Amino acid sequence: MAIRADSVGSHLRRLAVALLACAPLLANAQGYAPRPQDRVSEAQNPAPVAASASTPLTNLPGRERRSLNGKWQALVDGYADGIGEWKAVWKDRTATGKTQFFEYGFDDSVTLDVPGDFNTQRPELNWLEGSVWYRKTFEYDAAAARRKGRRLFVHFGAANYRADVFLNGEKLGSHEGGFTPFQFELTGRVKPGENRLLVHVNNERRKDGIPAKGFDWFNYGGLTRDVDLVETPGTYIQDYSLQLAPDSLRRVDGWVQLAGTAPRQTVRVRIPELGVEVRAEAGADGRAPLRFEAPFALWSPTQPKLYRVEVSTPEESLQEDIGFRSIAVRGDALLLNGEPLFLRGVNFHEEIDGRRAHSEADAQRLLEQAKQLGANFVRLAHYPHNEHLLRLADRMGLLLWQEIPVYQGIDFAAAGMQAKLDAMLAEMIGRDRNRAAVIVWGIANETSPGPARNAALSALAQQARRLDPSRLISAAFYGPGFDGGTLTVSDPLVAALDVVGINEYFGWYTPWPVEPEQAVWKPFGKPLLITEFGAEARYGHHGADDVASAWNEEFQAEFYRKQLRMLARIPFLRGAAPWVMMDFRSPVRMHPFQSGYNRKGLLSERRERKLAWQVIHDYYAEVGR
Ligand code: GCU
Repeated sequence: MAIRADSVGSHLRRLAVALLACAPLLANAQGYAPRPQDRVSEAQNPAPVAASASTPLTNLPGRERRSLNGKWQALVDGYADGIGEWKAVWKDRTATGKTQFFEYGFDDSVTLDVPGDFNTQRPELNWLEGSVWYRKTFEYDAAAARRKGRRLFVHFGAANYRADVFLNGEKLGSHEGGFTPFQFELTGRVKPGENRLLVHVNNERRKDGIPAKGFDWFNYGGLTRDVDLVETPGTYIQDYSLQLAPDSLRRVDGWVQLAGTAPRQTVRVRIPELGVEVRAEAGADGRAPLRFEAPFALWSPTQPKLYRVEVSTPEESLQEDIGFRSIAVRGDALLLNGEPLFLRGVNFHEEIDGRRAHSEADAQRLLEQAKQLGANFVRLAHYPHNEHLLRLADRMGLLLWQEIPVYQGIDFAAAGMQAKLDAMLAEMIGRDRNRAAVIVWGIANETSPGPARNAALSALAQQARRLDPSRLISAAFYGPGFDGGTLTVSDPLVAALDVVGINEYFGWYTPWPVEPEQAVWKPFGKPLLITEFGAEARYGHHGADDVASAWNEEFQAEFYRKQLRMLARIPFLRGAAPWVMMDFRSPVRMHPFQSGYNRKGLLSERRERKLAWQVIHDYYAEVGR
């Protein structure tokens, strides 16, 4: 594929050309008194061209693609007014001659690394909640592609929180949501020679956002994940589902989805190691349902077996490593491949070394820590993590709970909220539906019952089940009620779920309602996971184990010993996940002992083990026996 992403050198070349031109043009320095003709209304800033937005391609590693990762030109637009006002940053103008100068131009701007949050790349951006404009140029042989009927897409792993994308001054569209992939088609819009891709990213928190304005993690903004150009044939394999049917350990009930002008094609799926080769015909809608059986070595944490799968049409062939396993609920039992399962879990955010994690190396370091703890399960808090981590979890044999950031104060009654919830859920499930490691789709965290919330989340649970009948649907709730005798879980949303997550902080946020040894939980007929429990301690701080305000490691360790005495008494408990594996940055944790970090980690942010780490490690060694 004849694509060449720009280097810093190419914009220096452009600058040299501009200087040589030296056309004595009227000074066009952008003062602060915008000239009327410079004012660009939103109307002039073209509305998104719906045709260019398309369902994100899956299995990027298996496709014909060119990474646009690396250094991008960047303009900081701190008050977020560069998109429609007189600055008209999206016009991406280049100064020519000695007298022209664009204060808001890219030619001599700073650069930022993509992928990566912008907050931690430049000290002046640390607390920015505003807009950054990114620009990358690339060359592409559009004529050759056209002759071969090839199509070109730009695919973003994520951009937090809103993104507006332009190509050569033309707006392609926008995306809302900071943790799921999106893409736009460039076919017919790329030109010979240099093309200019512009992305406006704004990370301001929004009342009608998902998450809304309040959350307990750092609001890293920017192009936080990989960006790729992807080339496909005229009709291409958009995505596919190849997972075991919910009631079988041998049968795959799947489908392949084609997109393009000639959808009626024969699709072939091969798994050479098992001698599987099946064909199916895609209909006018491009969908090719398929069903086959095979003697799979089932994927599990102890045997994370992946098979090389090939999905092909007459025009293209994709390969991917996929694991096959069954996850199910029977009464209040959790079954993996038909066997009882206990989830030795831990939570962590997508953060390492004080920045947004994004690479395979980052994923390796995070998942290794979970393995060292003795975990077989990770709850990816509180949003979909980068795809590198999920593919690595497949290989390492770690089970995952993945959720969309429907976190606490969501405005469920806001106009368009259900559509936003559905879109974000579909983007998460669409990307990861073939990752054996994912066993739970989480649809909410600590939302309070109410008519709008109950309706929205019950509908979302149904949407999740429709999109993926092979996995469990859950949500994490605030702590249980206490009726003076027993601890009770009573939320109307429970009825819509397969598994219930409870976040309880007895001994930290709330006093123990009873002594742990006397605690009795009332069964509710479904598996229970304690999805969060934890207390804060500052690494290296030691002293009494019964004084909460001392931030001692001893207090945190004793907190967990007491908690485990209660968990041992819950017959329908099927898993536990301490909150949290590692201290993480949060602007709402500014106590002097926290200094901008939530200190409930079993590890410090430098991955130093606190005393509580050993308590959980020993517990998992015991239950995992
Ligand atoms: C909540 C919430 C977490 C938060 C934690 C805490 O349960 O889900 O996101 O960090 O409590 O207060 O530390």
